[in-house]
Amino acid sequence: MAEIERHSFDVLVVGAGGAGLRAAIAAHDAGAKVGIVCKSLLGKAHTVMAEGGIAAAMANVWKEDNWQVHFRDTMRGGKMLNHWRMAQLHAQEAPDRVRELEEWGALFDRTPDGLISQRDFGGHRYARLAHVGDRTGLELIRTLQQRAVALGIEVFMECTVTKLLTSDGRISGAFGYWRESGRFVAFEAPSVVLATGGIGKSYKVTSNSWEYTGDGHALALEAGASLVNMEFVQFHPTGMVWPPSVKGILVTESVRGDGGVLRNSEGRRFMFDYIPEFFKAETADSEEEADRWYEDKTNNRRPPELLPRDEVARAINAEVKAGRGSPHGGVFLDIASRRTPEYIRRRLPSMYHQFKELADVDITAEPMEVGPTCHYVMGGVAVDPDTGESAVQGLYAAGEVAGGMHGANRLGGNSLSDLLVFGRRTGLNAAYAAARRGQRPEITDEEIRTASEHAVAPFGIEGGENPYTVQHDLQEVMHNLVGIIRTADEMERALSDLAGLRERITRLSVEGHRQYNPGWHLALDLRNMLRVSECIARAALERTESRGGHTRNDYPATDDAWGRLNLHCRLDGESVDIAREPLPQMPDDLRELFN
Ligand code: FUM
Repeated sequence: MAEIERHSFDVLVVGAGGAGLRAAIAAHDAGAKVGIVCKSLLGKAHTVMAEGGIAAAMANVWKEDNWQVHFRDTMRGGKMLNHWRMAQLHAQEAPDRVRELEEWGALFDRTPDGLISQRDFGGHRYARLAHVGDRTGLELIRTLQQRAVALGIEVFMECTVTKLLTSDGRISGAFGYWRESGRFVAFEAPSVVLATGGIGKSYKVTSNSWEYTGDGHALALEAGASLVNMEFVQFHPTGMVWPPSVKGILVTESVRGDGGVLRNSEGRRFMFDYIPEFFKAETADSEEEADRWYEDKTNNRRPPELLPRDEVARAINAEVKAGRGSPHGGVFLDIASRRTPEYIRRRLPSMYHQFKELADVDITAEPMEVGPTCHYVMGGVAVDPDTGESAVQGLYAAGEVAGGMHGANRLGGNSLSDLLVFGRRTGLNAAYAAARRGQRPEITDEEIRTASEHAVAPFGIEGGENPYTVQHDLQEVMHNLVGIIRTADEMERALSDLAGLRERITRLSVEGHRQYNPGWHLALDLRNMLRVSECIARAALERTESRGGHTRNDYPATDDAWGRLNLHCRLDGESVDIAREPLPQMPDDLRELFN
């Protein structure tokens, strides 16, 4: 077998979004030799789609805010299925992570007193999102990327990992290919951190770009780790719906945080009709009270447009289904009639340009048309909350690919803080573990041969299936049968369709050579997309209740018994097994916060 390119690191980070960069910086600071490998260009990550801000109880705008309130909001937003310890660490450590980002050069918007400004978002009791206009994720990436480059961390761009390598149940490295040349590359590393983001490309309408094919989820599963909470997929309530070429692109929640409201085709502010019992006590039931809340949060209740995302997405879906939607199948999001053009352009510069350039809509003068878009998966690799290590020794996960932190539904703004808090923790622990292990592992030629043969398999099939057709069919299945509203019948059909697609991907054929060949890349990505889609559908069929980002038309109620259980997916040969596992027990002092 021809020699292939090999590299050796203490810590290999797969993915260069916010979590990957933060993990790499932490591992480097702990003394490890670190490499980052990313499928796309450095800086091009879904992190930038967290536009509105980083949630952290800094109490810059409301002195009443503190980590306990943030913890409670996060758990309630996640319908109490979150791993309590992750939610606690996240709420406690987020403010330091934001301040550190500022020390590293991030330029946050300011309050009149010169503090970091914080804005309102759904499900957060106080204005808590540190922000940079509506481009916060971009500023976060810019800052971390600059720091990682300045520290001299080696980056392998446009390089896709197709397999994690293990020996005696421990991680020994990863195998992948350069997208441009198609050449293979092997990385030897005693610690591997997955930071590959989400799974959005399995759905037809999504805010995710082409990279998000569930790679880390599938790699972890195949290496022996389990995935938790996969039935919970977040549909952000507001994506663009028109024109068709931009359908799904995100419209930041900041529009509602800064005073925008949702209306149906009759002009009615319909969210007042959808306040669930769970949030009744804290949600305003009149327009007057809702509007007063922006000025005084201590004496008024939150507007219903700022309910958690699962509630708002379901309400929009219901209005459209009832025939009260906008001309292009969404609803209206109106900030023009509520804030001055100057305010809108200052607070929401990207939204202003996005709508002007892509839809010829001036959001300072007219409402936007918006509808739900697949944005985030709450489910991910089950990890130890303190260290980020999975069940496979040496394999870590942070950010969206890790599960547990957000339970059944993530609050907006909690992803940027999640990736900073757990990116750092995971990077540090991966570095410590590598140092403890001492020696770097070695990857055998046999392992490389097997991984290469698997990767080139689609070249050996003539006249087989076209990967683009299979991807299209997969997106239809997930959109139509495992979307916002689910039923057992539909999910059983989905599972049978997915089995058909699994069979079809064994017959994928690609033309040409390994040099820059997008059809081949997609053929490899499809294996991951199908694995993850099967986990989502199986877990969603198993959970016979509605909760957070999982709504069953045939089981519309939330069931207390299910509130004590997480579902874990594991691979048994080629099939996905589902196990019910009890939630970790929350200590009494934290439980008290809910009384
Ligand atoms: O709406 C937004 O700006 C998205 C934020 C997030 O997903 O955290």
